[in-house]
Amino acid sequence: MLRCLILEPEMVLSWLNLLAKLGFSNITGIDYSPSAIQLSRSIIEKEGLSNITLKVEDFLHLPEELSGFQVCVDKGTLDAISLSPDGATEKRRQYVSALSRVLRPEGFFLITSCNWTAEELRNEFREGFELFEVLPTPKFSFGGRSGNTVAAVVFQKT
Ligand SMILES: C[S@@+](CC[C@H](N)C(=O)[O-])C[C@H]1O[C@@H](n2cnc3c(N)ncnc32)[C@H](O)[C@@H]1O
Repeated sequence: MLRCLILEPEMVLSWLNLLAKLGFSNITGIDYSPSAIQLSRSIIEKEGLSNITLKVEDFLHLPEELSGFQVCVDKGTLDAISLSPDGATEKRRQYVSALSRVLRPEGFFLITSCNWTAEELRNEFREGFELFEVLPTPKFSFGGRSGNTVAAVVFQKT
């Protein structure tokens, strides 16, 4: 059974079609905010989706049973952790080791970030992960320089 961990369950509908087409039948969504999980639950119930388990969990302190995933998806959680007023550098380090714990060897990590560039993410996950693909995202130009509005990157656990 293919297993996927989603750190953004309220966005699950946008990922579900893709994951279902890829054969994922065991999908877990987590957030440490009970209200985010409540919102996700109401969406999932409304849509009649049955193959998603939602849990209130802190990604940095996950229980042992939340491990062995083939795919982990994040949109905005690393960004939120990075903006923590309290020990953000240490929490980012914890994030990388938590990710390593939840993924199987050769498992994939899909991250979308509006705080970090693809190059910065590559540096963040340089130990234990290799770059698989940088996905195309919208571009903008300002003051003669151009960049991307968000970064979307796929890493593979080595
Ligand atoms: C910027 S929001 C992104 C929400 C959603 N993915 C989206 O794109 O609209 C960040 C989310 O990460 C959650 N979060 C932050 N730190 C977390 C942690 N350590 N463990 C689990 N969830 C966390 C917050 O509760 C929040 O729902």
